[in-house]
Amino acid sequence: MKHPHTRHNAAGLRSRTGRFTLIALLTALPALLFAWSAGWLSSRLSPQQFVDQLEQNGGRHAGFRRNHAKGLCVSGYFEPSADARRLSTAGVFAAGRHSVNGRLSIPGGNPYGADDKAPLRSLGLQIDGGSAHEWRMALNSSAVFVVARPEDFYALLQAQQPDPVSGRRDKEKLRAFFNRHPETAAFRQWQSQHTPSDSFANSRYNSLNSFVFTDNAGTERYLRWSLIPQQAYQPQAADNGADFLAADFRRRVAQQPQRWTLQLQLAADGDPVNDATRAWPAERPTVNAGTLVINAAGPQQQGACRDINFDPLILPAGIRPSGDPLLAARSAVYSDSFTRRITEQATQEHPHD
Ligand code: HEM
Repeated sequence: MKHPHTRHNAAGLRSRTGRFTLIALLTALPALLFAWSAGWLSSRLSPQQFVDQLEQNGGRHAGFRRNHAKGLCVSGYFEPSADARRLSTAGVFAAGRHSVNGRLSIPGGNPYGADDKAPLRSLGLQIDGGSAHEWRMALNSSAVFVVARPEDFYALLQAQQPDPVSGRRDKEKLRAFFNRHPETAAFRQWQSQHTPSDSFANSRYNSLNSFVFTDNAGTERYLRWSLIPQQAYQPQAADNGADFLAADFRRRVAQQPQRWTLQLQLAADGDPVNDATRAWPAERPTVNAGTLVINAAGPQQQGACRDINFDPLILPAGIRPSGDPLLAARSAVYSDSFTRRITEQATQEHPHD
């Protein structure tokens, strides 16, 4: 099912809001059914509670994503390799160029958040594979995710809620959370050793969750994927400031298209496929599945990415989700965030990006 990608101008927006609400609700249905069938909604947590908590942490900014609020729209194309076609029947792997809409972002619910304080770089992508063959994804630059289960992510968000007076996080609460959650160790170790890159263009983006590719013969393979930049990684500098990422990327794209290699990592029997906190051994085989080329970038408020929900469960035939419980939760929560922001656009703020 497709989401609206239309651009709006202020006039007539209110009259369209009802239609968007309906579309947003229809959009939410498959995610909610999946969440229900995956047993996620039978726990006491609802997608609304997640989004409410994200608003507590990042503020409520009308018309913006409740997480990864600061970002810019990008577009270009994906050119798959023949090796990708051997692993999945997905239409996005048919020979040729497939148009792409994407969004580069930093985490957090604040659209004015500081780039130089962000621990991650992120990328949402929508690859056109022909009718009913669209592939959407949302990727982070970390090597693993911080927790394995949605309810633990919720508990982490609660522990991160800033004090209303000082605006600071409570270090004791965070320490207590991490002590109770040893599965966060791999993420914390990665974070302590990694300086975020000085550009969206030289950052690597990882699926973290696992998925299943099905080939022509019906053989299924568990895998994860990464977009590996063709520009060499450079650490961010102390004087980069709070707003360098979007301007830097637009400058680079104006000079030349920016490229990433789509690399698949294949699981071996016994590898944890439902736990995003656990990386697979580096010696697992990898496959070059093609090249992502980004040749345009612009502000999110006017771009196509504004009205796209980069729901990781919008998958073409030939790719299906693993049983990782984060996926069902992400899909349902993104949908609620999408519904809120898409119905607020008449009143939204207008930050620079
Ligand atoms: C239970 C775990 C998670 C929750 C509750 C969550 C929540 C959210 C929400 C509410 C949004 C905004 C959606 C929108 O309005 O369009 C979002 C965006 C995003 N999330 Fe997550 N997330 C989770 C896990 C992850 C993981 C594991 C990754 C990476 C592998 C990830 C990557 C992203 C990215 C890249 C975006 C920005 C997409 C865009 O540009 O629209 N998230 N997340």
